[in-house]
Amino acid sequence: MRDGTRVVHAGLPDPVPGAPFLAGPVFAAPYHLDPQTGPAINGYGRPDNPTRRALEAAIGELEGAPALAFASGQAAITGLLLAMLRTGDTVALPADGYYTVRAFAENVLRDLGVRPVFVPTAGPYPSFEDVCLVLLETPANPGLDVCDIRAVAGAARAAGALVAVDNTTATPLGQRPLELGADLVVASGTKALTGHSDILLGYVATADEVTLARLTTWRSQTGGVPGAFDCWLAHRSLATLDLRLTRQSANAAAVAGLLLERTDVTGLRWPGLPGDPSYPIATAQMHRIPGVVSFDLGSAERVARFLTASRLVFAATSFGGVHTTADRRAQWGDDTPPGFVRLSCGIEDPEDLVTDLTTALDA
Ligand SMILES: Cc1ncc(COP(=O)(O)O)c(C=O)c1O
Repeated sequence: MRDGTRVVHAGLPDPVPGAPFLAGPVFAAPYHLDPQTGPAINGYGRPDNPTRRALEAAIGELEGAPALAFASGQAAITGLLLAMLRTGDTVALPADGYYTVRAFAENVLRDLGVRPVFVPTAGPYPSFEDVCLVLLETPANPGLDVCDIRAVAGAARAAGALVAVDNTTATPLGQRPLELGADLVVASGTKALTGHSDILLGYVATADEVTLARLTTWRSQTGGVPGAFDCWLAHRSLATLDLRLTRQSANAAAVAGLLLERTDVTGLRWPGLPGDPSYPIATAQMHRIPGVVSFDLGSAERVARFLTASRLVFAATSFGGVHTTADRRAQWGDDTPPGFVRLSCGIEDPEDLVTDLTTALDA
């Protein structure tokens, strides 16, 4: 089956006359127990929830391995790091990836005696001789460099390291890290996966049963599970993933084309542009290019003017939603120039978007 069909049917039960396609959320902390035999399928809401299990089945189908949902992307990533790493271990993390992961490594992992090494996504990659876990983020957020997952995973595995790929920006329709040799996928489902800017969600997926069991125990014991309503909203939103990504990517192509022509915009990055440094690897290993574009408007003041003048671009952090948003990353502490903007294309009409962006840039 192709993407559009896979997302519509992902995680749905077989048809039962009289039953809905996707059952509504099950709100339960405890469930009735059999007084004689005790817990069976559902005992308590932290380890067990049918709505969450259905979402996990859907994500698992798309990523190609069993998935575990977490309360946010950050809960998934920190869960992975804390469940897998021990004192004395070394972990390789992206130097240019999501900044909160670096902050967590500095604030928490170092205190636990875990040594982080920060590696730029575009390389060069060091020897993985003493490394236990390599986390890649490709495309990296917000600079949009990409790395060759197969090559890095091959080198890491040869050295005995586990490889996890943050698949937030690409989504499982854009990139299948497990097929490229990664051991784990980790992601924020807050972004394009669910795409409506209304929930926080994260997940980890792996085919390795021992690692999955370790992560399941970690999640049950630390408790960072998403609620039933959020899981249901996420599952409902998945059905349109193919449509949303297709429009976002087309909008990004139109926006990148506009920005490329402007002499008052510098540092344009979009992995789908033939001249972009990420283009060769991105087009070889990804199935589609995400709707996120980055560029530099020169100053914080010009970014503010641009955002104020635009009628369609919301000033907002996060990305991957149905509304076009733009974020000046330096305001959050990213190591980017003051005028650096990450623009996430929504699913608006491309002509309206290009017209609006032109007006806002002129202003
Ligand atoms: C690449 C990436 N990974 C992980 C996260 C964390 O996800 P969440 O905000 O759902 O905790 C983000 C958030 O922006 C992200 O961009």
